[in-house]
Amino acid sequence: MTRGSPFTTSQNIFTDRDVFDVEGFQPAELIEREDQIDEYASALEPVLNGWNPNNIFIYGKTGTGKTATTQYLLEWLRKDIAEHTAEHGTDIDLSIIYLNCEALTSSYQIAVELLNELRDEHNQVATRGHAPSDIYNWLFEELDATGGVTLVVLDEIDNVGEDDTVLYKLARPEIEDATLGVIGISNDFSFRDELSAKVRDSLCEKEILFPAYESDELREILRQRAENGLREDAYDNASIALSAAYAAQDKGSARQAIDIMREAGDIARREDAETITEAHVEAAKGIVERGRVSEMIGGLSPHGKYALHALATADREGETPIRTKDLYEIYGIVCDQHATDPLSDRALRDHLSELDLIGLATINRKNAGRAGGKYKQYELDVNAERVIEAFATTDSVDVSSTSP
Ligand SMILES: Nc1ncnc2c1ncn2[C@@H]1O[C@H](COP(=O)(O)OP(=O)(O)OP(=O)(O)O)[C@@H](O)[C@H]1O
Ligand SMILES: [Mg+2]
Repeated sequence: MTRGSPFTTSQNIFTDRDVFDVEGFQPAELIEREDQIDEYASALEPVLNGWNPNNIFIYGKTGTGKTATTQYLLEWLRKDIAEHTAEHGTDIDLSIIYLNCEALTSSYQIAVELLNELRDEHNQVATRGHAPSDIYNWLFEELDATGGVTLVVLDEIDNVGEDDTVLYKLARPEIEDATLGVIGISNDFSFRDELSAKVRDSLCEKEILFPAYESDELREILRQRAENGLREDAYDNASIALSAAYAAQDKGSARQAIDIMREAGDIARREDAETITEAHVEAAKGIVERGRVSEMIGGLSPHGKYALHALATADREGETPIRTKDLYEIYGIVCDQHATDPLSDRALRDHLSELDLIGLATINRKNAGRAGGKYKQYELDVNAERVIEAFATTDSVDVSSTSP
């Protein structure tokens, strides 16, 4: 039997599916971020007069619009400066360098990347083999040569790791003929606290918090996408409200809300349905959650996986927040099931820190005073069933390796 083309070309649901592309699509207007935009804009405003801007530190959980708002404001800044120049003949010399530090995991790498952004393509430096002091000297030389105001945006700056030299250097640039403003962006709340005091004081001159979105805010964000990317009769208030409610219950992330809505649209499209129903949203939520959990688990080391499995088991039994020594027992049982020897409790703590870093778990530091001393408690940050489910489908979670 021939089954015909395997592709679904149904046009019932989307008019423009790209509107739901969370990384690629920049909305014309940002919803419900007026306060943050006002604060952010006023910290950047000096640039419009060619003055030194404040250093700014943007923080807030994932999917709260930090990157989108930054891009939005930088676009306006470029536009306003161009207009200013055209109208008044004033020439404001602004250079903007935007770096996403996801793959730049040390001060050295960030500094090299910045230097290469400032240099032309024939004069790039290699990513290894130079003394850091040379890199910083060259960087300041380039900034001086560029002149005017340079604005450096370091998105996802928490990837820099323990050594924050690059931030220290940028906060106190050795330049004479130019000014530099630094914008740091992070979704890791502990990152700011762990910065050395001298870096924090200068980098965090102006701090702006992006709070998690509430359900009604996510509804407006989704409505905006729906108006631009869905057929008018392909969605209703109920499907939007449910997608928003699920994302609000979880992390308050706009990214997650948009992902759920797109996935729901895809399911409806494949079924050749006319509209997105609440059942589609329900199914989409499961898919998005599973995708996120498996993706995060996939990147863990084997003992990182065992630690997570132990924490998910504790969570399901209602035993979280849980202290290290209690979790160590469950972890021992999990290792036993995988015919592996458990690592030390110290090593378990390191693996739990890793889980905290990528958003699978939270560490609460407790201080029980003189009697109890300081200790840590761990909580699971994702749905325990999804984690255990992911471990049950062993092809997505390969725990066969025995290296730590
Ligand atoms: N207020 C908003 N209005 C419209 N769309 C938004 C809004 N906030 C976020 N979004 C959209 O949600 C998605 C995630 O936002 P963004 O990338 O800015 O999050 P983030 O805070 O930078 O997260 P992370 O910390 O994970 O980098 C993007 O597609 C963005 O366009
Ligand atoms: Mg971002």
